[in-house]
Amino acid sequence: MFKGVLFDLDGVITDTAEYHYLAWKELAASIGITIDREFNEQLKGVSRLDSLKRILAYGGKENAYSEEQIANLAAQKNEQYVKMIAKVTPADVYPGILSLLQELKQAGIKVGLASASINAPALIERMELSAYFDTIARADQVPSKPDPAIFELAAKNLGLEPEQCIGIEDAPAGIQAIKACHALPIGVGKASDLGQDIAVVENTAKLTLAYLEEQWRKYRA
Ligand code: BG6
Ligand code: MG
Repeated sequence: MFKGVLFDLDGVITDTAEYHYLAWKELAASIGITIDREFNEQLKGVSRLDSLKRILAYGGKENAYSEEQIANLAAQKNEQYVKMIAKVTPADVYPGILSLLQELKQAGIKVGLASASINAPALIERMELSAYFDTIARADQVPSKPDPAIFELAAKNLGLEPEQCIGIEDAPAGIQAIKACHALPIGVGKASDLGQDIAVVENTAKLTLAYLEEQWRKYRA
């Protein structure tokens, strides 16, 4: 059976993926680029700087700004995002997540956070979930998803191999990262976005320990 569960945060533990989208949409609009939800799928799970570079390329402005201007634009987006998440409380934790974390703790299964967000530790505290995480892997120390490094780091911090872990993700880049390090992926969202070859739940209420065990038996038997 699996020994660890590695969670993504934005769009898995709470709805902050929506805030990232809204903040990027506003920033992009301010420089004359229109993004929509379909394009946003490509930004999910991707670091702040890489997201901005993808937006600039999408708008045909990849060479329009200096590195310093790019850093300023990224900081502007983050300022807006930080304002948005100031309102997050424990009531914003997605359905089923708290009970899953409680089940995992009781079963002695290690729990790690493998989020690309520098804001992740603050959000976990704001949602009063710190006690459930044995590690929060630091996103600023590794390359961005789809590189598997953040999942590898979280597993390592838990004293486990990725192969012994389940990874839970809402982003195509995140699923790619989980597959690349040979953890078992479970997607949150639509199979059409995340893949027909993996377990996908349409919402987090379905994520129970029993469901995770069932997927492990199904895909790892
Ligand atoms: C990921 C989000 O979790 O974190 C991305 O899915 C976001 O949308 C990335 O760009 C980085 O977040 P932050 O908070 O460091 O800008
Ligand atoms: Mg996510």
